[in-house]
Amino acid sequence: MSQQASELRSSTAVVTLGRPDPTPDGPLNPPISLSSTFRSAGAPQQGERVYARYANPTWEPLEEAIASLEGGDLPGLAFASGMAAVSAALSLVPVGGVAVVPSASYNGTIGLARDLAEAGSLVLREVDPLDLAATIVALEGADLLWLESPTNPRLDVVDLPRLVSEARRRAVTAVVDNTFSTPLRQRPLSVGADVVVHSATKFIAGHSDVLLGLVVARNGELRARLAKHRTLHGGIAGPFEAWLALRGLRTMALRLDRAEATAGELARRLLEHPAVERVRYPGLPSDPNHERARVQLDGFGAIVSIEPSGGADAADRLVEALGLFTPATSLGGVESLVERRRRHAAEPLEVPEALVRLSIGIEHVEDLWADLDRALTAAAG
Ligand SMILES: Cc1ncc(COP(=O)(O)O)c(C=O)c1O
Repeated sequence: MSQQASELRSSTAVVTLGRPDPTPDGPLNPPISLSSTFRSAGAPQQGERVYARYANPTWEPLEEAIASLEGGDLPGLAFASGMAAVSAALSLVPVGGVAVVPSASYNGTIGLARDLAEAGSLVLREVDPLDLAATIVALEGADLLWLESPTNPRLDVVDLPRLVSEARRRAVTAVVDNTFSTPLRQRPLSVGADVVVHSATKFIAGHSDVLLGLVVARNGELRARLAKHRTLHGGIAGPFEAWLALRGLRTMALRLDRAEATAGELARRLLEHPAVERVRYPGLPSDPNHERARVQLDGFGAIVSIEPSGGADAADRLVEALGLFTPATSLGGVESLVERRRRHAAEPLEVPEALVRLSIGIEHVEDLWADLDRALTAAAG
């Protein structure tokens, strides 16, 4: 890692972090290490890596980079997917312990938490984190608080500083899923979170060609427990995926700047569109969470959620009518994607039936607008 990384602006740091030490004739990029095992340092000592389920040289530059961007002191941990990272973080709840998790979390997260509760592994207290008083009550005697902000797909912005500090005061481990904001827009460790989780599948890798998870822990004890979970459950990142995610990270600042500017412009126009009933985008002054978003976020992100007039049927027609937006789940890639989220049986019921999530890519704003305007009018007619 470059010695000056912490002094650099984050749009520079994404370019410079995780480079090999400069040596004459050495490569600019870290190589991909395809080896399932590592030579012992000499009997009876082991080397540090030992076996590629424990560590891999290709993970390390990415793990250093994400930790540095999130403001962590210890290297992060790469996992096979965002859900492998979520699963490791939920394993921090001791057997029979209490996890406080928003009902309207990403459907995989709340789905896993409910499964663990059903199996008796943990006690689940489901909350609406916008209801501060009720969430704080739920923290009494809890072991872990899960937060996501902005939320997927309603784009609620949660009062992270307040809830994290209430958790810390009660010695409750605070975990924040920072997938939607990325460390370029929000750094949960700086407001006291203990663990940050990413689906690096999204904005970090950025090209819809990789599944990968990342975790950054505040202290060595938490990191060791998460690393042990990874080693023993085996949810490890493939070296090629880790390499691609680091390559994606190099352009994340550029991609996010562009997609975010487009998302803001589209959100403003969608608000005025006669075929649109509701627009959620934290950057809109009319958004219920705008003031909080302005204080907490360094940018409002590249996801816009809308409800077209005419309910779920009109929403399905809209998805069908769009041409430049690809109908597909996922988000954070260079290409714009669209999805009516409640088409998934697992989607939380708090998500409106007609909500259509738009993941804005890096295409030209006017091409995206022309597609949206035409499809909205067609779907309404
Ligand atoms: C907020 C959030 N967290 C976690 C995940 C899970 O990540 P992955 O699909 O990489 O397993 C997703 C996936 O959509 C997500 O949106």
